[in-house]
This record gives sequence, C-alpha cells and structure tokens, in this order.
Amino acid sequence: MKILVINGPNLNMLGIREPAHYGKETYADLLKKIENHAIAKGITVEFRQSNHEGDLVDYIQSAYQTYDGIVINPGAYTHTSIAILDAVKAVGVPTCEVHISDVKSREDFRQISYIRAACVLTISGHGTNGYLEAIDFLIENNNSNK
Ligand code: DQA
Repeated sequence: MKILVINGPNLNMLGIREPAHYGKETYADLLKKIENHAIAKGITVEFRQSNHEGDLVDYIQSAYQTYDGIVINPGAYTHTSIAILDAVKAVGVPTCEVHISDVKSREDFRQISYIRAACVLTISGHGTNGYLEAIDFLIENNNSNK
C-alpha cells in the first residue's frame, strides 16, 4: 500500500512557527515520525510540501491510479481553495484531512474547510499524531490488494 502525504504552506516552518499552536517538532521530525510509522505498518509513504496552491493540485493529481490514499494538511488553503477540493474529487483517491492545531477552537475564518467535503476523515487538534491516525484509517479501510 502506498500513501502520499502532502503538506501545504508554512508547514515547512514547523518547529519555528507559532509553537503554541503547532508544537516544537520540525518538518524533518514530522517526516521521520511518519516514515517510522509507515515502516512499522509495512506500507510505503512519500512526501510532498509546497507553499503554492497549484503545486498542491499537481501533487493530488499525481496520486491518480498511483497511490492508495492521500493524507493532506492543506494549511491555510483549507479555508480558501476550491481548486484543492476539486482535485481531490477528480482523482477519487481516499483522502484524509489533517490539522495539527484544533481549528474548531480558533478564528472564525478557520471554521470553513472546502476540502472536508471530499475527505473520508478529518482529524484536527491531535498534533502531529493526527498524520499517523490518518494513515491507520487509510490502512484499515484500504480496498486495494497492493
Ligand atoms: C493548520 C491550520 C490552518 O488553519 C493553518 O492555516 C495552518 C495549519 C493546522 O495544521 O493546524 O497552516 O492546517
């Protein structure tokens, strides 16, 4: 089984940006944590990160017929991007939305998630463990034999 983990804008700044919301782990720490989890579960994970909306659309499209699942934290594009929602709908790959912080308890402008409508699961406020929970969910619900 192959899962694509996509992170959007400013997630490359983990460990530096607003630690009260996002913790002290760096982006490199996050990748290592997910990679170790994937090895323990016997699956393959690949990573993409971009600060640009169109890149995120390209990454999602690249998952078509190639990956069995997507875990995505679209960062602030969660709250603005219909293009990212449409890309997830277009590829039909089971997708989990992850947010490190608890967006429900934050500003009003964070209460809308466009991508949510196309996702099989949304996890918010579980810190970086949310990525691992999303991967576990995709494994448990995987219908392919890969
Ligand atoms: C975030 C929450 C978003 O509102 C914010 O813009 C981010 C990170 C999170 O992981 O909690 O960049 O997606």
